[in-house]
Amino acid sequence: MKILVIGGGGREHTLAWKIAQSPRVDKVFVAPGNAGTAAIAENLNIRPTDIEALGKVAKEKNIDLVLVGPESPLASGIVDYFNSLGIPIFGSTKAATQIESSKVFAQNLMEKYGIPYPKGAVFSSYSEARKYLGQQKPPVVVKADGLAAGKGVIIANSMVEANKALSDIMEAKIFGSAGDKVIIDECLTGREVSLIAFTDGETVSPMLPACDYKKTGDGDQGPNTGGMGSYCPPGFFSAELIEKATNTILLPTVRAMANEGMPYKGVLYAGLMIVNGEPLVLEFNARFGDPETQAVLPLLKTDLVDILLAVIQGNLDQLKIEWSSDACVGVVMASAGYPGSYKTGFPIKGLDKVDKDVVIFHAGTKLGNDGIIYTNGGRVLTVASTGKDMAEAQGKVYRNLPSIHFEGCYYRKDIALREIKGINSKS
Ligand code: AMP
Ligand code: GLY
Repeated sequence: MKILVIGGGGREHTLAWKIAQSPRVDKVFVAPGNAGTAAIAENLNIRPTDIEALGKVAKEKNIDLVLVGPESPLASGIVDYFNSLGIPIFGSTKAATQIESSKVFAQNLMEKYGIPYPKGAVFSSYSEARKYLGQQKPPVVVKADGLAAGKGVIIANSMVEANKALSDIMEAKIFGSAGDKVIIDECLTGREVSLIAFTDGETVSPMLPACDYKKTGDGDQGPNTGGMGSYCPPGFFSAELIEKATNTILLPTVRAMANEGMPYKGVLYAGLMIVNGEPLVLEFNARFGDPETQAVLPLLKTDLVDILLAVIQGNLDQLKIEWSSDACVGVVMASAGYPGSYKTGFPIKGLDKVDKDVVIFHAGTKLGNDGIIYTNGGRVLTVASTGKDMAEAQGKVYRNLPSIHFEGCYYRKDIALREIKGINSKS
């Protein structure tokens, strides 16, 4: 088979890496990819949102299967378009992707079908929202409805902050039309977990759960990022909790979507908060998580291509998906300044100096004409390793990280630490 992966981050390098291991696969293409995918696949210089160009190249290269990484092509209807071309594609349709692209859509669905989520209210009028905020006490959570590159959720610790967030989103339109509607949520405290599942529209098969670290600094200090590291699986999210979340959230959501006439196929990512033993939905995504994928997929024993085909063909119930009982840790190396402004174009040294069983997933990297790999983004690499337990996996990653270097690189020193030390904190 020839398989095309769409996207160019750490998640897509991981997906391409896993697909390339399949005996069914002759060749992998990645659009646009990065220096890491260039080593295992052929990169195609096409943007993930240039759906027509992707369709054209998929025809020219006789692609047998397409896998979509990021949300923007899904939200623009890439799956509907490829279906109309008759090219098998893994992902959710434009209608089904609303579960991620509109938080109001997701909240209305959860309300209608009794799926647990934090108490909240939806507004399309700024003055109504402002009035409602006036009756709340901090902390409160203000969320823009639409896609906002992971920045559309503001946890306000004072009413001044909450009012500013509201006017930034609804009046100043800092996220454009994504801020035409807002959700104002009660602020929950609890432990967060990402539970990501394969689904063919009927059967739901959750992957191992993972935890993501969103803040730049150790102990969860500093600004929010796309994710600075991840580990899999978290001990606190027991098999019973996975089953509970599957039965109260994932399955009802997939059934609800079918009932609404928008069958849901692909990946359903539930960002959950566990409050007093009960999982509640903070967000849904229609894609694999980044950097969760870098910690989850190394533990997948079943051929990923078999799973993708079972989802597309609607026979996921006939496939037993197997996972390793090991643990996996992935730590992100970022450019100085990220998530604010940062410089790129620094040579990355030591990529060949790590132990054989440590994997380096590339994100913002670029292969120069001189054969040297340069930084090309804020999140540059995820360094990952499995181990028989979390301590072994984490130890391998942190022992190898100092071998890799680029100007201004930084990374968190505490990914998976709470899992090893049993620290009962949120970080
Ligand atoms: P979202 O994009 O909706 O997942 O929000 C991003 C992050 O904001 C989540 O991962 C949580 O850490 C936090 N968050 C979102 N909603 C809430 C809430 N109702 N209470 C507390 N934290 C929240
Ligand atoms: N790691 C969070 C996300 O992929 O949305």
